[in-house]
Amino acid sequence: MTTAPAESGPLDSGRLDSGDVGSGAVGSGDVEQRRILVTDIPGPRSTMLHERKMSAVSAGVATGLPVYVVRAAGGILVDVDGNHLIDLGSGIAVTTVGNSAPRVVAAVRSQVEDFTHTCFMITPYEEYVAVCERLNSLTPGDGEKRSALFNSGSEAVENAIKVARTFTGRTAVVAFDHAYHGRTNLTMALTAKNMPYKQGFGPFAGEIHRVPMAYPYRWPTGAEHCADEAFDAFVSQVHTQVGEQNTAAVIIEPIQGEGGFIVPPTGFLKRISDWCTENGILLIADEIQTGFCRTGDWFACEHEDVVPDLITTAKGIAGGLPLAALTGRADVMDSVHAGGLGGTYGGNPVACAAALGAIETMEAEDLCGRARQIEALFLPRLRALAERFDAIGEVRGRGAMLAIELVTGGPDKTPNPALTSALNAYCHRQGVVTLTAGTFGNVLRFLPPLSAGDDLLTEGLDILEQAFVASL
Ligand SMILES: Cc1ncc(COP(=O)(O)O)c(C=O)c1O
Repeated sequence: MTTAPAESGPLDSGRLDSGDVGSGAVGSGDVEQRRILVTDIPGPRSTMLHERKMSAVSAGVATGLPVYVVRAAGGILVDVDGNHLIDLGSGIAVTTVGNSAPRVVAAVRSQVEDFTHTCFMITPYEEYVAVCERLNSLTPGDGEKRSALFNSGSEAVENAIKVARTFTGRTAVVAFDHAYHGRTNLTMALTAKNMPYKQGFGPFAGEIHRVPMAYPYRWPTGAEHCADEAFDAFVSQVHTQVGEQNTAAVIIEPIQGEGGFIVPPTGFLKRISDWCTENGILLIADEIQTGFCRTGDWFACEHEDVVPDLITTAKGIAGGLPLAALTGRADVMDSVHAGGLGGTYGGNPVACAAALGAIETMEAEDLCGRARQIEALFLPRLRALAERFDAIGEVRGRGAMLAIELVTGGPDKTPNPALTSALNAYCHRQGVVTLTAGTFGNVLRFLPPLSAGDDLLTEGLDILEQAFVASL
């Protein structure tokens, strides 16, 4: 750990120097890329702000690590107390290109000066069209595609269901155990986990049917049977409980996010996709967490050569600005009557400019390649920890979307949420922002910004190792 005096006043955030736009740097601005702790975490200024938060913000909006951020870039978050924290979460897989990435900053600045809003449904603008063009060519599949833009991932998922129902004339939607698709009423119905996402918020939207997920680590008869048995269970349940002829869509995260970074066995996704095609059912790939280089491909479906009919994206798309999209087959997307899709802010010009800057950054910096490098850096370290500590039941994930599932040890695989919280809290106290996940609250997940340097990531892993030593 390095210490240094607090370098700025409590709310003096300073500005990013974006002078290196075009130089090829992902951009860390003038934020020193070092972990620096000058106070306890959280520090006194964060603690003061948190007291204000508690009396101003609904208790329903919880915060995982109450350090109040004033600046961020590269792989570092700077808080109001002057601490520099290593970011292994990217604001839940959002700042894939890094915070305040130079191309995003330049594009946003320029757009804000030109105009901030007209409403695309009233008087349109080029940036919206350009983002849709980029999405249509970047997403899997060579066929003709169309896109529509929204504000949040949940909204994109809602619209995917609307489109699928219109196109097929059917109503039922099939979702998986451990799924997370959002917090609006329809997406809560699609989301599997009750606490905290659904508790007390029902009744939920109807015509949602849940099937088992191919979760190799926890498959009752063993991982080797998971792909076949999960597929058979899926087919049988849809046939007997829903009816193929009533099913508009199957929605799946190619790697489940909030559910615990569950990677289905190779081929499972493809079999689901082929079966959907045979039965006139649309496959919706929810790539909101996995998309935009996160898993080492532009989209996680590509890894399995799966071309979904519809794909939802958000998070990494716009370098931190709120934007989401639904992209899909032109005939499907164009089946909706004019005016059926939209919203006041969807595809806001500033968010679109940010997305164009973020996508340009991903291409110019080969961030898919960077995600694979991060996998190569993390996996051996995580596997070495798993050799040492039998509390790590499984190491899994792909690219810069990696996780460890924590258990009490021994063959019974009992989830260990207490240890997960202890490790998470240790990392936080040491200035490393880690996130938890999982239906059983027993997964520690790593989603570093792809702009973070190897030194920072290695230090983050060192601290994780210390967390195990201290907690076990
Ligand atoms: C796979 C997936 N779908 C949907 C959502 C919902 O996105 P949002 O929080 O932007 O509404 C998320 C958010 O974590 C997600 O990971």
